[in-house]
Amino acid sequence: MSGYRAIARVEQVRRNGSLAVEIDGLALLVCNADDVIHVIVNRCSHQDQPLAGGRIRNGFIFCPFHGMRYRLATGEGVGQLTRLPIRVLASRVVDGEVQACLPADGALQPLT
Ligand code: FES
Repeated sequence: MSGYRAIARVEQVRRNGSLAVEIDGLALLVCNADDVIHVIVNRCSHQDQPLAGGRIRNGFIFCPFHGMRYRLATGEGVGQLTRLPIRVLASRVVDGEVQACLPADGALQPLT
C-alpha cells in the first residue's frame, strides 16, 4: 500500500547531513541539503552500496565508495561509473515531521 508515512523528525537530520532509517524493510536515507529535505533509497545505483555517510553539498550526495555524485532532487547521477539514477521518494515536512511517500510493496525492487 502506498502513501505518506512519518519516517523521522526534521531536527534529527543536521544541515548537510543524513539519517538512515528502515521502514518495512526498506532502507531509506533522509538528507538535509542546505535545509531542504530529500528522501532517497539508501543504495547507490553503481554497485548497490549504501549512500549513508556520503558527503552532501550543493544539493548532491557523493557516494562514499567510488565517488559518484547524485542530484538529490531528481536522483540523476553525475559521473562516468553508471547512468542509472538513484531512487528518490516524494517527501514533505509537516509540523516538523519528515514524511515520505512509500511505494507499494516491492515497487522499488530491483535497481536495474
Ligand atoms: S558503489 Fe557508489 S559509486 Fe560505486
